[in-house]
Amino acid sequence: MKSEEDGFTFICLKSELKENIGRKFIVDEIEVAVFKRNDEIFALSNICPHQQTRLIYDGFVEDEFVVCPAHGWKFNLRTGKKDSGSNGLDTYPVMIVDNQIFVKVHPKKLRW
Ligand code: FES
Repeated sequence: MKSEEDGFTFICLKSELKENIGRKFIVDEIEVAVFKRNDEIFALSNICPHQQTRLIYDGFVEDEFVVCPAHGWKFNLRTGKKDSGSNGLDTYPVMIVDNQIFVKVHPKKLRW
């Protein structure tokens, strides 16, 4: 379901997410890992920049970080940055309407 005028896409109901347990969604061909922590929703790229594993959704949530299950790199849920502060995962805007979660992705431009 699309929210046409603003580019947000419906992914699921907030009540369908468990605290600190990620889920994977495909939005406009982009893999998005979505987490609920302290009742707040975060959406990040599902693809780890370390070795491009598609497992971020399966990561362990520790404080405000998600830990990649492959080799333990940590990413801030809110900013996507690594715990060292360097660039990590893309993050995506989230919109909540009643119990519904919408996410807006911004696909990378193709480079020729
Ligand atoms: S692939 Fe994520 S830490 Fe190595």
